[in-house]
Amino acid sequence: MAKFHVIIPAAGSGSRMHSEIPKQYLPLLSRPLITWCLDVFYANTKIDYVHLALHPQDEVWSHQLSNNPKLNVLRTGGDTRAQTVLNTLEEIDADENDWVLVHDAARPGLTDALLSKLLDALQDDIVGGLLAIPLADTLKRADASQRVEKTESREDLWQAQTPQMFQYGLLKRALIKAQANHQQPTDEAQAIEFLGLSPKLVAGELRNLKITYPQDLLLAEAILAVDMNKHSEHQS
Ligand code: C5P
Repeated sequence: MAKFHVIIPAAGSGSRMHSEIPKQYLPLLSRPLITWCLDVFYANTKIDYVHLALHPQDEVWSHQLSNNPKLNVLRTGGDTRAQTVLNTLEEIDADENDWVLVHDAARPGLTDALLSKLLDALQDDIVGGLLAIPLADTLKRADASQRVEKTESREDLWQAQTPQMFQYGLLKRALIKAQANHQQPTDEAQAIEFLGLSPKLVAGELRNLKITYPQDLLLAEAILAVDMNKHSEHQS
């Protein structure tokens, strides 16, 4: 039976957060941002392994932050996200047909419902796919002086999220080929697209936002605080 591996690339510098520590360690409702998605993967019974890919010189990580029998901490961070993921695929023990779900360390709003939806939609798919949301806003292309050059059609445009889920052998081949061709895929799906394949889009939710700028942290706190209040009302 195919196993389910999660890879969390967590080796970025997070320079747009203007913070001294990498963004995945910033406090989010008084615990480190990264622990929110880790807990979702630990709790889902379909997930077998959670591989956390840290920067080789990461000095903040400690097992006191999070621990679980599924967790495998590796120092496989590379210069790009694609390199971090490829280094990790080369390090882990997995079969060609095992599923790999790559999830940004900086997306704390993932829920078990969204994760289960992705797993159900893709576990029999021949290509694999990703969570994404249809574009809601009108898209403007800017010129060099930050003036609108043109309005792009938003029809059929989706915003990619994570997890992105592909079989181990296919994903590894795709990333190796992209590297050999000097292509720079910004997500795993793009590497699969370079092979001429079409990943499936599974409707995600806005709450699964990526923390990039300081204001994103406030938004994520507001969303997760509502969840916590609902949970405590349910228990009382
Ligand atoms: O920088 P960005 O927010 O796009 O990064 C997305 C994810 O990829 C983050 O979890 C980040 O830590 C990770 N990453 C990585 N190695 C890099 C660059 C980014 O693991 N060299």
